[in-house]
Amino acid sequence: MDLLERTSALRELDELLAGTPGGGRLVLVSGEAGVGKSALVDRFAERHGTDARFLWGVCDPLLTPRALGPLHDIARQTGGRLAAEIAAEGSREAVFATFLDELDRPGRRQVAVVEDAHWADEATLDLLVFLGRRLARTNALLVVTFRDDEVGPDHPLRAALGRLPRESARRLSLQPLSEGAVAELAGRAGRAAAGLHAVTGGNPLLVTEVLAAAEPGVPATVSDLVLARLATLPADAQEVVRLAAVVPTRAELWLLEEALRPDPAAVEACADGGMLTVAGETVGFRHELLRQAVEGSLSDVRRRGLNRQVLQVLSDAAGREVDIARLVHHARQAGDVEAVLRHAPEAARQAAAVSAHREAVGHYRAVLPLADRLPARQRAELLEDYSVEAYLGGLAGEALRARQRALELWEAVGQAGKVGESLRWLSRPSTTTSPPCSASSPSARATRRPPPRAGSGSSPQQMGSPPARVRGRSRSALSPLCSGFRPVP
Ligand SMILES: Nc1ncnc2c1ncn2[C@@H]1O[C@H](COP(=O)(O)OP(=O)(O)O)[C@@H](O)[C@H]1O
Ligand SMILES: [Mg+2]
Repeated sequence: MDLLERTSALRELDELLAGTPGGGRLVLVSGEAGVGKSALVDRFAERHGTDARFLWGVCDPLLTPRALGPLHDIARQTGGRLAAEIAAEGSREAVFATFLDELDRPGRRQVAVVEDAHWADEATLDLLVFLGRRLARTNALLVVTFRDDEVGPDHPLRAALGRLPRESARRLSLQPLSEGAVAELAGRAGRAAAGLHAVTGGNPLLVTEVLAAAEPGVPATVSDLVLARLATLPADAQEVVRLAAVVPTRAELWLLEEALRPDPAAVEACADGGMLTVAGETVGFRHELLRQAVEGSLSDVRRRGLNRQVLQVLSDAAGREVDIARLVHHARQAGDVEAVLRHAPEAARQAAAVSAHREAVGHYRAVLPLADRLPARQRAELLEDYSVEAYLGGLAGEALRARQRALELWEAVGQAGKVGESLRWLSRPSTTTSPPCSASSPSARATRRPPPRAGSGSSPQQMGSPPARVRGRSRSALSPLCSGFRPVP
């Protein structure tokens, strides 16, 4: 399909790529959900299918994002040193440096794409800043897409962008389609254009959805559009769609296969009916908003059941690489307490290991309300680890309260040594104040010591950033058509 009104944006991307032999560049592609960021980057990739290597990384709307998720995606494509370094849980600095080397190869031009950075974890944001400062020394183009209407003044991405050298990033802000372009799309679909621009605000996703609806006219919400289309599918195809709807971004075909064992005709019906697309080894909705619309239409019981099925398959996926943050997500959505207790502490540890403190905090917060089922010693250890990550994430008050609770538990089980360690930790002046400098700022990182684990004897330095927003997301400011959406939890 032709992309309307994107000629100059594509030309700009072409020019940036053409200029990379003289030094790599970063380009920030922004715009509201559905405005066409992915479509633009896909088209750019198609145009350069033979003269550039594209590496793709995606940030997903999990309850707590995967730590360094996009880099893991990219490592699966590159293999080699980067994949080995990640698999060996190499230091974050080593992993970042290896990726930079990967981008600095002579020969074919390279484009790394990080999609939907408004959902990026803290370590990925640090990676973007790291690359932004060094790309000029490579010959790669880094394309980052994000929803600008979801990035308010206190959003972590905003802070990361502020840490980039001013001259290093080119900004491409995509605008909704004009009335003329909407009329052209309507004409191609054999529909009347009257009122279409006004009701969609020119948002290409909404225009496409309205035009694809069986009934002419303007339904109330995107949910109505999607659900009406879903209702036209055979029952087994609807089951496929509903299962795919609980898997953020895209589901692997093997996951679908194991969970439902669908008749291939049912999957084909989903694609033919315009509900799902099959790309490579994955299946997914044409847009994340459409997935959320179907997910939001499920009853609680249904949603839990489907999440349980997905969790089961992902947990049993021997020999396959499944990010632990996905297991935590589905365990939480399924209300499976045992699985949350099993996976969330490990997910927190992995996030902490790459300094994704916000995500580590998110995982600990998922597990701590359930921790009264654990022995006191284990609970105390969880609280200690949480206090460290909360502190490093800029939540000094939370950190103190957690450490206080850990102290009480150590007292209750008579662990004198642990009591002493906690008392020392709590009495340090640096733990009880919020220093002015962000934990993530370069100066803080330069002076940062290892986290103040019990008995380590080190004191946290320069750590209190303003309380981090843990995955706060604003509702998209799309158009009234979206009013039926449930925000991502
Ligand atoms: N310039 C355009 N002209 C026509 N259709 C478009 C255009 N941009 C996007 N679309 C269509 O709109 C839908 C949403 O686009 P997408 O790129 O997924 O949005 P985003 O990534 O910004 O959320 C897709 O179905 C796409 O084909
Ligand atoms: Mg997109």
